[in-house]
Amino acid sequence: MALPNPIRTFLTKVEVLKDLEAKVQELMAQHEAKRPLWFPSDLLGPKPGDDPDAHYAALRTRARGIPDPARAALALNMLTEEGLPHFHRLLATHLGDDSHWQAWNHLWTAEEDRHGVILHDYLHEARIVNQRHLEAMQFDYLRAGFTPDWDKDPYRVFAYTTLQERATQQSHGETGRLIGQYEPLLGEVLANVAGEEARHFTFYRTIFAEILARDPNEALVSAAHILPSIEMPGHTMPGFRDLADVIRRAGIYGPRDYLRIVQEQLRYWKIDALEGLNAAGRKAQEKILGIPERLARIADYIESKSKAKTFNFEVVFNREFAME
Ligand SMILES: [Fe+2]
Ligand SMILES: [Fe+2]
Repeated sequence: MALPNPIRTFLTKVEVLKDLEAKVQELMAQHEAKRPLWFPSDLLGPKPGDDPDAHYAALRTRARGIPDPARAALALNMLTEEGLPHFHRLLATHLGDDSHWQAWNHLWTAEEDRHGVILHDYLHEARIVNQRHLEAMQFDYLRAGFTPDWDKDPYRVFAYTTLQERATQQSHGETGRLIGQYEPLLGEVLANVAGEEARHFTFYRTIFAEILARDPNEALVSAAHILPSIEMPGHTMPGFRDLADVIRRAGIYGPRDYLRIVQEQLRYWKIDALEGLNAAGRKAQEKILGIPERLARIADYIESKSKAKTFNFEVVFNREFAME
């Protein structure tokens, strides 16, 4: 990393975003060239010439084998995706409503919208959850709003979205692996969704790397706010914590995975090698480098306290199931 450029210290965050517009355009072109544009009907519906009734009847038969913890995971994954209006708003608010940033927000939103739709459509066809209850949870989730403490700071958006895309990639991917043995069609759906999250992750972490190169001190201060934990918009909803606990116990996603994701970004962004920082930048760098140790302690604590437990969720017909 070069010594601090005195000009950089005068760049505002808005100017850095402006400076990145050509990069956004380039990354968007790369992203669109790489991603297959599927629609929910392509993955869920009958193949041309197949009988739709027989197709959906077979889907329902297979879906009956999906165990309750995996159904709970599907419900939480769907709710997370349906938080899209919260995230669209945050991107529009923090990145501005013009330029290539707006174009990215629109493209990203259009892609993300299919994730919630395909999960909703699958669950509706398969009849493996209490659909009305899930829809009521979604209503509450959206109605509650989501106003994280980001202080009009666009850099925090990219730190958050980098981690969140990686976390959702893992969650969909692992849920798909778990379910694929019972219902290969849904396994394939989730693998496609996870693949798209991975491409979004690549976009956001590249943008954050570009910000670090232009404005390392402020970028570190912003990252130090986000990296200790990423809260999902619904974390205060009744039952949300238990759903997250089931997902951890099922080996889909938990604090140890979050630790791994943070470590991966610290390596990719070469946080420990950044030099020529000012006092605030150095302080933030030190704080960030201490985060993995803290996350490891949290993961150890949660795992050591964890005892076999029974769960029941209205969204999974209030059936009781036990988990280690
Ligand atoms: Fe998504
Ligand atoms: Fe995504």
